[in-house]
Amino acid sequence: MSWEAGADLVVVGSGVAGLTAALDAAAAGLRVVVVTKDGVGEGSTRWAQGGVAVVLGDVAGDSLDAHVADTLAAGGGLNDADAVGTVVRGGPGAVRRLRERGALFDARGPRLDRTREGGHSAFRVVHAGGDATGAEIERALVAATRDAGVTVLDGHVAVDALREVTGRVVGLAVLAGDGDAGVLRAPAVLLATGGYGQLYSSTTNPETSTGDGVAIALRAGATASDLEFVQFHPTVLWTGPASDTAGRRTLVTEAVRGEGAVLRDRTGTAFMAGVHPRADLAPRDVVAAAITRRMAETGSDCAWLDATALDGFAARFPTVYASCRAAGIDPLTEPIPVTPAAHYACGGVVTDTSGRTGVPGLYAAGEVARTGLHGANRLASNSLLEGLVVGERVVRAVLADAGPTGVSTPAGTVPALPVADRTVVQRAMSASAGIGRDAAGLAGASDAIEAVTATAVPADRAGVEDAALTLIAQAVLAAAGTRRETRGCHVRTDFPDRDDTYQRSSLQVRVDAAGRPVVVADEALAGVA
Ligand code: SIN
Repeated sequence: MSWEAGADLVVVGSGVAGLTAALDAAAAGLRVVVVTKDGVGEGSTRWAQGGVAVVLGDVAGDSLDAHVADTLAAGGGLNDADAVGTVVRGGPGAVRRLRERGALFDARGPRLDRTREGGHSAFRVVHAGGDATGAEIERALVAATRDAGVTVLDGHVAVDALREVTGRVVGLAVLAGDGDAGVLRAPAVLLATGGYGQLYSSTTNPETSTGDGVAIALRAGATASDLEFVQFHPTVLWTGPASDTAGRRTLVTEAVRGEGAVLRDRTGTAFMAGVHPRADLAPRDVVAAAITRRMAETGSDCAWLDATALDGFAARFPTVYASCRAAGIDPLTEPIPVTPAAHYACGGVVTDTSGRTGVPGLYAAGEVARTGLHGANRLASNSLLEGLVVGERVVRAVLADAGPTGVSTPAGTVPALPVADRTVVQRAMSASAGIGRDAAGLAGASDAIEAVTATAVPADRAGVEDAALTLIAQAVLAAAGTRRETRGCHVRTDFPDRDDTYQRSSLQVRVDAAGRPVVVADEALAGVA
């Protein structure tokens, strides 16, 4: 059976960017439908621990310019400076409006409490519930969405954008859990689907993070960029070898180091001091790579995060504390075993800071998008910030762009897509496209995935997700193979140095007529790519 409905704006995803946009659109009088694979609020946002990086003007010595500078320093020369300025400067207003929507941040008296994370030169990260910032933001936004009467289509996976002959996006094909196909017609579709951490066996991301939005955008003719910059969080809880293949892993927020915890190797040596002037609070790519190196040098499966000297750990980090205790670890008296795990997609669908992709009618915001804020390595706690700021700006863009109304196109059919077995994809990516990649490994991973790829019409959510993971895996591998340098999150063991041939280039990825990703390097790379 199939059905059809209409809206002014379809929002795919129900995290911070999607719900912020949905609420603003509803407030502006637009008919909004939110499409979400699970229940509303089940995406990545709720798992975010650390907080929102924002300069509110009440921290001595901190400034918007300092936040901009830290973001640029972390990003390894690939940020778009205008995007950084827009998002950072949009932060204070966006956080104020989020609080007006009911989000409660931790405070000391009238002033919000702050913490620090890797790469930040000041205590500027606001947080909630100690280390449950994402959960509180999601709670507030879900409640506001219900109060506003926004229509939510839960249990539905977005399959493909509907397009007119001009290429303009005019709606979305969706599938329900039982395979029931539907069509949502709308002059504007916003992808806010999060990232693609599920490309890897071990990730902090929930099962929803399968890159659906990037895949939909690529197939609709949009460009993606910086896909090779997969950020590995330095510290996820390590509970034994089996946990390396156990899907979503428990984050141990960087704020633990921000409050004074120290990384140690198996001999008890605090090893970050010799690696970077900011030691344990170096940018995330530096810390994750240093841990990986130290584990290899010492033959360890993990490193240890020593928080035993911190006062009030259980109250300040209740989520981490409970997870440690559930794993039989007492962080008050013993160091926490940690390893890096896939955490965040710094790249994604190329957009401006108002969420516009290159395809009329198609928008993207949050982790799915590449605005240029993050460059080669995202500064900690800039992601919720970006979701809030761009989530608001995209609605203004949709209103300004004023797409056609009453569009009529033939009902979309679900296309046949290249699909590989998810376990093969995850194993290949984990083995060859993690921290430390080389040409042979990347090519081997691509071949291994290709060998199990067949073309099929996705019949359910798993099929749609597998097709997305297959496309994005090949896109990440192609981009990572083309970028023959080490920069930010992209560590090439065969090209260990930064090469400024790639300085101003973001490798662009599109799909060809057969649905396969191709890297379109810019002119600066014409001679080397
Ligand atoms: C963390 O709390 O360490 C993660 C925050 C982030 O990814 O920005």
